[in-house]
Amino acid sequence: MKISKIIAAMSVSIILTATMICAQGGNGWKASPELVEKLSKSRPDINYFEEKVPQYILPDVLTGSSGKPVTSATRWKKYRRQEVLELFRENVYGRVPSTQYSKEFKVINEDENAMNGNATLKQVDITIRSEGRSLVIHLTMFVPNKVQKPVPAFLLIDNRGPANTDPTRKVRSEFWPAEEVVARGYAIAVFYNADVDPDNFDDFKNGIHGLLDRGRQADSWGTIAAWAWGASRCMDYFETDKDIDRKKVAVLGHSRGGKTALWAGAEDQRFALVISNESGCGGAALARRKYGETISVINKSFPHWFCTNYRKYNNNEPEMPVDMHMLMALIAPRALYVASAADDLWADPRGSYLSLYNSLQVFRLLKIKSSLPPEMPPLNKPVTSGKTGYHIRDGVHNMLLKDWNWFMDFADMVLK
Ligand code: GCU
Repeated sequence: MKISKIIAAMSVSIILTATMICAQGGNGWKASPELVEKLSKSRPDINYFEEKVPQYILPDVLTGSSGKPVTSATRWKKYRRQEVLELFRENVYGRVPSTQYSKEFKVINEDENAMNGNATLKQVDITIRSEGRSLVIHLTMFVPNKVQKPVPAFLLIDNRGPANTDPTRKVRSEFWPAEEVVARGYAIAVFYNADVDPDNFDDFKNGIHGLLDRGRQADSWGTIAAWAWGASRCMDYFETDKDIDRKKVAVLGHSRGGKTALWAGAEDQRFALVISNESGCGGAALARRKYGETISVINKSFPHWFCTNYRKYNNNEPEMPVDMHMLMALIAPRALYVASAADDLWADPRGSYLSLYNSLQVFRLLKIKSSLPPEMPPLNKPVTSGKTGYHIRDGVHNMLLKDWNWFMDFADMVLK
């Protein structure tokens, strides 16, 4: 056996061992047995039992397609990173078409006296045009007034609708806690994902697909890739706004928005921090565990989210050339934070932590200290190391101020 093969085989077994340690748990979080029972009864087709997770081997993120181990930061940056990115484009999220388009930014409202003078509200129309058709992404942001500019910023990919992100602040929601974020010296921005592409299966006739697609293939972008593309157009705007520190922009999202944040961070290296909240299948959770929502289930319920090739892995996860630890590796050496909720077993908290844990080897290769423990942290006790972090909150599937406060604690360490 060639030395490189032996090393590759060894690293597979190290990953497997680490996976096992983590899957068994120690003093860290464990799913409540009552909840597991209850959920299993309501959806007998879904696995919620840790014991029933199949044996699996994760693809080695640090072995290139030629079989050679990637042992230097230069090899990763020059070659392997692009290879992994292409694998995700080809097999999971799809490729952005090369159709030409123009973009225009227009500040349609600016109020320097928002939040009782604490912030400046800016509402920006980002207009995308191609061959006589157009689409507008409405970006809303608050910039703190009483701090030195430029400031770091959070960009939320909003999958819940503008009711949660009211620019007038008559309605306030923990989902986008603008006052609290501004008080900590960050700008907070948001765009509504449906501005870029409506969240339903319309055969890709509407939204940005309707504007830019010229025929569709098995690797054409799905709706998640479209939303991620929208986040990048907001980043284009930030680069023109002197109030925003373009080197310190965090992209975040919850659930389907969290899947999108990870992909946005993978595709666009201008994002300095990626936060994925309860993103589950097709996001943070390892697909090979088949715990909670699976690839076949998600492709059936949301046929527009991913590229058609992703369907090849319905009940066929071991054949997929990637798993989600490799998506997280694409964020390195930038900062990455993953969050789960204890009652949200649908999104597989343990599988999400394992993904993060198994991506750390790439952070380390890039000289970023990342020594998160193999074991999950206890409930409500964030764990961070260098530019990586994780928490599991008590309670249900949602993004709350409690989550945001931990995101901001982490951002204070990695962005300020
Ligand atoms: C559904 C879907 C998940 C998704 C979630 C959400 O539950 O199955 O994959 O993350 O919706 O976006 O809230």
